[in-house]
Amino acid sequence: MEQTLGFFILFLVSISYAENLCCSYPCQNGGVCLTKGFKDYECDCTSTDFYGRNCETPTFSKRIKLWLKPSPLTLHNLMIGNNWLWNIVNNIPFLRGFIMKKVYTMRSDMIDSPPTYESEHPYITLDANYNVSFYTRTLPPVPVECPTPMGVAGKKILPDLDVLVKKLFIREKFKPEPIGTSALFSFFAQHFTHQFFKTDIKRGPQYQWGGHGVDMTHVYGKDKHDENLLRSFKDGKLKVQTVNGEDWPPLSKDAQVEMQYIMPVQEDSKFALGHSFFGNLPGLFMYASIWMREHNRVCDVMKKEHPEWDDERLYQTGKLILLGETIKIVIEDYVQHLSNYNFKLLFDPSLLFGEPFQYQNRIALEFNHLYHWHPLMPDDFNIGGTNYTMKDFLVNPKLVIKHGMATFVDSLSKQNAGAFTVRNHGKYTVNVVKELIKHGRTLRLQPLNNYRKRFNLKPFKSFKELTGNKWLAKELENFYGDIEAVEFYVGLITEKRRPKAVFGEAIVEMGGPYSVKGLMANPICSPKYWKPSTFGGNVGFEIVNTATIEKLFCQNIKEDCPVVSFKVPGFVEGQEKPVDEHGEL
Ligand code: HEM
Ligand SMILES: *[C@@H]1O[C@H](CO)[C@@H](O)[C@H](O)[C@H]1NC(C)=O
Ligand SMILES: *[C@@H]1O[C@H](CO)[C@@H](O)[C@H](O)[C@H]1NC(C)=O
Repeated sequence: MEQTLGFFILFLVSISYAENLCCSYPCQNGGVCLTKGFKDYECDCTSTDFYGRNCETPTFSKRIKLWLKPSPLTLHNLMIGNNWLWNIVNNIPFLRGFIMKKVYTMRSDMIDSPPTYESEHPYITLDANYNVSFYTRTLPPVPVECPTPMGVAGKKILPDLDVLVKKLFIREKFKPEPIGTSALFSFFAQHFTHQFFKTDIKRGPQYQWGGHGVDMTHVYGKDKHDENLLRSFKDGKLKVQTVNGEDWPPLSKDAQVEMQYIMPVQEDSKFALGHSFFGNLPGLFMYASIWMREHNRVCDVMKKEHPEWDDERLYQTGKLILLGETIKIVIEDYVQHLSNYNFKLLFDPSLLFGEPFQYQNRIALEFNHLYHWHPLMPDDFNIGGTNYTMKDFLVNPKLVIKHGMATFVDSLSKQNAGAFTVRNHGKYTVNVVKELIKHGRTLRLQPLNNYRKRFNLKPFKSFKELTGNKWLAKELENFYGDIEAVEFYVGLITEKRRPKAVFGEAIVEMGGPYSVKGLMANPICSPKYWKPSTFGGNVGFEIVNTATIEKLFCQNIKEDCPVVSFKVPGFVEGQEKPVDEHGEL
């Protein structure tokens, strides 16, 4: 009897040892959970404007602020509707600037700067700031001792990956992107973001080998060594080769930058590019080529302005100008399309001068995960009247040279991208999403609902509320059992789409802050950089301030200007809804 009791007590003690009360995420509103011995916890509510055991009660002034604050959906609807209102606002510089400043500050205030977490500790460490090999984390990993992989909610074992991928990811029938996004957009997304999403997979998915921001390494090379291989050392320009009367990047034999191919590739298809991945797809090769031409064009302009400058100064200034052009195009063309706002977005760093704002940025693991937009790739491409499959595209950059820059960009502009939704991953990207979900598990990403709360969104109460689709809700319920246990990426892609939008709410309300912070915290946006002299004078500054995606192509193509558009011309919204046998998705 005594022995049994002894065992029983030992059993109880071992349970309480194993328990971490923070596993149930008791602290609300950004309060930090701290265990207190083995059987208690406390919430640190410092500077949250909330108090109480779980930081659940707002202070009086916070209560009023919350009451006045419009919901993200209200703001979204305001921005995508009210055409008449925006027509007025867009044309009054003072109002447009005022609203854009709000966009900058409201979005970037959501991001912790300096960074707080990394993937190896569920609490703050100094490494999170000083060890830049890590992606940062907006929410710390789920502690390893928690009873379920998601904390306390859900099943002990996450859904089988093969079953999950087969049910929710594999594309059977192509679903087109419903607001008319073009394949030119998809490749822009991939090309632009690969400069800062650089997972160091050999070390592990928590590591990265990039510079944590918009540093143009995808055009100029990852380090000084590669930069030097790509430079001609004459008039600031990059090395080129001329084929069919057009300038293209040099062959690998003429600039020995290390490239990485996803399958075997012919020797004469190997080009030297700023990013080792960009030889894998013609769309990426196209962007690499056009930025290379733009750099050399800008160098010519600068040499005329500054005949006194040497190669080095022309090169360095060209780089600054192209970086400025990139941010201008990303905000005013790319994000403009993506947001579908009637408000005209504006790139003007001076709007932030005098505001409390940190000019530093760290790429977050969550940002990388949510940017896996592989469904945006179609299965087939019609290039100048010839049909190509994705298989024809892979490791075949020469297709761009064959058809010429003008035809290629024109064709991609007219090609509908795929919809970001379930059952729409093409054959060649299914494995990428499988690996991604695996990484999310290894790195113990918190469930979707925790991220919704972190970004001021209401947590979903049911699978139906998440998906807006009965069939999908049922599938997810079978997989996860509890809405509080839905994995991050799976939740993002199963979330219902917003009206007139490319994505659901969570992707935009998380991606927006990461993106605005990453763009506006760039050093060129800071007061000492953002002035004409940084860009070689007024002529260079003007190039930055008037850049568009259309000009980028048309100023570097000898023929008539082709169609250059992130939206398929003539596309009428609401015509094509991505539908499959399971209903509208
Ligand atoms: C058919 C076209 C595409 C193919 C074949 C492809 C293939 C791949 C591959 C093989 C990886 C590496 C996966 C790994 O190491 O686990 C990857 C990573 C990634 N892809 Fe794609 N991709 C395509 C299109 C896109 C597009 C349109 C986007 C849009 C933004 C995108 C965003 C990403 C991101 C963010 C990563 C992570 C990069 C990193 O962390 O290093 N991809 N893709
Ligand atoms: C960053 O952290 C990893 C893992 O702890 C370690 O191997 C690496 O040496 C650290 N790097 C620096 C610069 O401290
Ligand atoms: C190319 O594909 C389109 C649409 O899939 C089809 O209508 C057209 O006939 C095809 N053209 C050729 C030359 O195969």
